[in-house]
Amino acid sequence: MERMLGRVLVIVPTYNERENLPTIAGRVRAAVPEAHLLIADDNSPDGTGAVADELAAKDDHVHVLHRPGKQGLGAAYIAGFRWGLQEGFDVLVEMDADGSHQPEELPKLLETLADGADLVIGSRWVPGGKVVNWPTSREFLSRGANVYTRMMLGVPVRDATAGFRAYRSSTLEKIGLDDVESQGYCFQVDLTLRTVRHGLRVAEVPITFVDRTVGASKMSRDIVAEALWRVTLWGFSGFPQRLRRPR
Ligand code: GDD
Ligand code: MN
Repeated sequence: MERMLGRVLVIVPTYNERENLPTIAGRVRAAVPEAHLLIADDNSPDGTGAVADELAAKDDHVHVLHRPGKQGLGAAYIAGFRWGLQEGFDVLVEMDADGSHQPEELPKLLETLADGADLVIGSRWVPGGKVVNWPTSREFLSRGANVYTRMMLGVPVRDATAGFRAYRSSTLEKIGLDDVESQGYCFQVDLTLRTVRHGLRVAEVPITFVDRTVGASKMSRDIVAEALWRVTLWGFSGFPQRLRRPR
């Protein structure tokens, strides 16, 4: 797989994930041993950054990006993508630190990418996809967000807010990252929309999303509000207009 896809970088953004990080890092290294791991930490007050440094010191496949403060999931991923592109990785993977995304399912995403997709989304809302231990309110929010997104933007994707995904580097180079303004979780919708509008191939593979057992979600009212106004604005403005025509 490595030979077909080239070098793979798994990017894990962290904010207060000290207890989760060693577990997820170990699972990533075991599930896809050739892949490199980049931890993008927003100067977590709980000392996640120092834990990340310890992991990196012991393993030349682990890298750390220290960011000055909490600037949102979108900003952390943009910085991680830029690092990965600069370092010449061919595939850039997004994954949460809290165990909700299972590294053992990563080979399945990578195989689908190797089969010709430009973006593979690990999807909760396609047949075979599952969610374990999520409160009903959270499931309602995610399903509702996806229905609204499809209605406003017409993207043919069941789980546009999903945070477990694999991009070809060429996909990110084509869509460009310079004018991405989304800060919170709507970053996921933003990049899905850009990929679709560029006429690139998006594939969804079913995953099992397991709610975290350690630490707390960073989902907030502000994150929901940003997603709502941005998706609504994109829907009405046809955002970004020039991306409607595949280049
Ligand atoms: N560096 C950084 N900065 N990391 C962050 C930030 C931030 O501002 N906010 C969140 N994270 C990290 C968390 O530490 C975790 O590793 C990952 O991003 C996901 O955050 P959670 O707070 O655990 O997200 P969730 O479980 O509520 O939400 C999940 O579902 C969303 C909606 O479908 C995630 O999978 C999201 O990616 C997804 O958009
Ligand atoms: Mn989570």
